[in-house]
Amino acid sequence: MSDHVDPPECSFDKWAENYDSSIASDDGCFDRYEEVLVAVVEAARVQPGMRVLDIGVGTANLALRCVARGAHVVGLDPSAGMLAKAREKVDRDTGIELIQSAQPFLSTGYPDDIFDAVVSTYAFHHVEHETKPDAVREMARVLKPGGVIAIGDLIFEHAQAEQEALQKYDWLDKEPFSRLDELRAEFSRLGMTLDCHQYTPVSWVIHATGVRQL
Ligand SMILES: C[S@@+](CC[C@H](N)C(=O)[O-])C[C@H]1O[C@@H](n2cnc3c(N)ncnc32)[C@H](O)[C@@H]1O
Repeated sequence: MSDHVDPPECSFDKWAENYDSSIASDDGCFDRYEEVLVAVVEAARVQPGMRVLDIGVGTANLALRCVARGAHVVGLDPSAGMLAKAREKVDRDTGIELIQSAQPFLSTGYPDDIFDAVVSTYAFHHVEHETKPDAVREMARVLKPGGVIAIGDLIFEHAQAEQEALQKYDWLDKEPFSRLDELRAEFSRLGMTLDCHQYTPVSWVIHATGVRQL
């Protein structure tokens, strides 16, 4: 008898089928999507030979941009559906390794100091507020000294800015969005400095540098 157990269905599995076309016609959250991806790749200074971890890899849009720069990418995601779509787009020899992981921000499954960059787009807001400090620590743990953590996501400067946006934009659903003041404090606790650039009223690209002290 086989001991194979199917992973539980994830809410992102259904979205996977039309994810790429839906973001193109989205009404707000994904404005300037392509620019955000490019900005994350730039902020992470992706270069040939780098080892990059993409958390919440989805359909591999960011990972493919890193590979185009010559990096080897590991993409983690909880959704089997998203990973299946990613695999359709990724040639066997592209240098992208796609791995299903239940909580990839909290437990990457990798040893310390192994990636030159940790990148992520539109996924960090799925991590609950109370576990975001653990997620920041996990990303820093697997980063080589001198590496970069670069994230593009729905982020607000502080709780009040988030409240105002939720009232203003009817397309914005409440999620555990990150707040820059909290992220700055979290990275600073690890000895890292955060640079932040706003792309839309709801999205920012941030990147953390500096030798982290765990
Ligand atoms: C909006 S999609 C973004 C996908 C891709 N990074 C992009 O920029 O197009 C969000 C992705 O995060 C994944 N995800 C959901 N919850 C997550 C979590 N707790 N940790 C990491 N990824 C998560 C989903 O499965 C999905 O692939």
